[in-house]
Amino acid sequence: MVSYKELGLVNSRAMFAKAVKGGYAIPAYNFNNMEQLQAIIQACVETRSPVILQVSSGARKYANATMLRYMAQGAVAYAKELGYPIPIVLHLDHGDSFELCKDCIENGFSSVMIDGSHRPYDENVALTKKVVEFAHTYDVTVEGELGILAGIEDEVSAEHSTYTQPEEVIDFVTKTGVDSLAISIGTSHGATKFKPEQCTRSANGVLIPPPLRFDILEAIEKKLPGFPIVLHGASSVPMDFVGIINRYGGAMKDAVGIPEDQLRKAAKSAVCKINIDSDARIAMTALVRKVLAEHPGEFDPRKYLGPAREALKELLKRKNTEVLGSAGQA
Ligand code: G3H
Ligand code: 13P
Ligand code: ZN
Repeated sequence: MVSYKELGLVNSRAMFAKAVKGGYAIPAYNFNNMEQLQAIIQACVETRSPVILQVSSGARKYANATMLRYMAQGAVAYAKELGYPIPIVLHLDHGDSFELCKDCIENGFSSVMIDGSHRPYDENVALTKKVVEFAHTYDVTVEGELGILAGIEDEVSAEHSTYTQPEEVIDFVTKTGVDSLAISIGTSHGATKFKPEQCTRSANGVLIPPPLRFDILEAIEKKLPGFPIVLHGASSVPMDFVGIINRYGGAMKDAVGIPEDQLRKAAKSAVCKINIDSDARIAMTALVRKVLAEHPGEFDPRKYLGPAREALKELLKRKNTEVLGSAGQA
């Protein structure tokens, strides 16, 4: 058993309480490798932002559980070395079983998500409650989910989104004891969040997605005043990077994300954790494609992963400062 406390990590409880009161959201950035982790820590230290380092089960298989534990410990030390020890959470993203959550808790995670959103309601309650009971004995915080996002959630696929039903949230939170609740109000995972026919087109051909269901968010907030709400699928899919990818041999057709003004609005509400993965993937891929296309003889990974890391860092700094409002809150 390795406790997250030995690694210098924190759980999300105090972080969320402060964010809900302060009207901003904590960035929850997914990572799979060293360059992504370095970019996240550099960006959050430079903007003085707390951060949630997020690992999917796929990322855990890719990076290895033991490596991840030391990477998280390294991230804490690295932030200190950079001159500002920000609070860091290590969080399991979309945990799909009690066993996976338990394994993460026993290997240094300070927070886990148990995603029973695709199961029947009573099963979701029972599974989430079981994880909460185990996690809380180790002072680990737990995120549950109600409602299904359209698109791919790790290995769980949901063809159509089912919005969270505000009538269910009090019962779910009371019965399970979760510390935060992920909801479905129109976001979805990946880089093509909406079909072109669901969007309108601006004069210059840019796809404009349908707005998020802020009415549902408000109804949930009324039912659970001050309770931490989580927004998944919150990448904006920046068109400048998508353009670079397409210019240098990529094929990201009809990519469309959540407009930043909507995320800003959500961050000012009870939404206190905003999940971003695709944007980081897009920024890194854009730079890797560009460097390799411009320098076809290059074969040193540092020469293309270095610029990719730098682009990612700048993107995340901007998000913390201009979208989530977490800058200066560490
Ligand atoms: O919500 C899912 C995350 O973007 C993780 O994706 O399972 O491909 O690592 P992944
Ligand atoms: P994006 O695909 O919009 O980045 O969402 C990531 C996410 O929700 C991870 O849980
Ligand atoms: Zn997600």
